[in-house]
Amino acid sequence: MNVDYKALPDIRGEDEKLWIRPARDEDIEFMINLRNDPYIKERFVYRKDFTLMSQKNWMDNMVYTGKVIQYIVFYDDKKMGCTYYLPVEDREDEVELGIYLDPNYVGKQIGRKLTHLFCDLARDLGFNAVIARVIETNPASYRMLMAAGFNEESTFTQISEPSGKELNMKMMRFPLR
Ligand SMILES: CC(C)(COP(=O)(O)OP(=O)(O)OC[C@H]1O[C@@H](n2cnc3c(N)ncnc32)[C@H](O)[C@@H]1OP(=O)(O)O)[C@@H](O)C(=O)NCCC(=O)NCCS
Repeated sequence: MNVDYKALPDIRGEDEKLWIRPARDEDIEFMINLRNDPYIKERFVYRKDFTLMSQKNWMDNMVYTGKVIQYIVFYDDKKMGCTYYLPVEDREDEVELGIYLDPNYVGKQIGRKLTHLFCDLARDLGFNAVIARVIETNPASYRMLMAAGFNEESTFTQISEPSGKELNMKMMRFPLR
């Protein structure tokens, strides 16, 4: 993936309360605090704490260089989440969705609206599919993706960091064309 970070648009959905804009330095502390929240951390494979240094490096080396697309989510003008696309190994035409919302907002169908909105961006940027990996014990994420139109493609296992625990995962796919 190689996008022009400066050209990425702010995006509004049909739900006028929901909008997103590209992440920038002023969001670093917000992203670290949210991603390190235990509710969120235990729903990801990678569970090491994010630090100021790691997130700053991520922004400089991955986001501003266009290797990753990272957006901040607003609802009712409150900063309440983060969503991003990672490159997919050996598939230049696909991106992998990542998303985490403030736990106070979970279960209000914001996730599925946001997923729709963000998948439209991937289509506009010329990608052919969005994929997502979900831990089997994360029904909220699975239900959100199914409601947004993703298909379940396969199951596999992945090793969580830093515990080394084996997690059962589902591979989900949303074809864009
Ligand atoms: C996953 C996440 C983005 C979903 O956003 P959301 O706004 O809660 O999603 P939605 O409300 O659109 O859909 C969630 C569905 O799961 C249900 N749900 C929520 N928590 C649940 C739980 N603990 N157990 C079972 N179902 C749950 C909701 O009721 C809703 O169901 P519905 O289809 O009947 O409406 C959000 O929950 C989140 O940020 N979780 C923590 C981080 C995370 O898991 N990220 C994804 C990693 S792959």
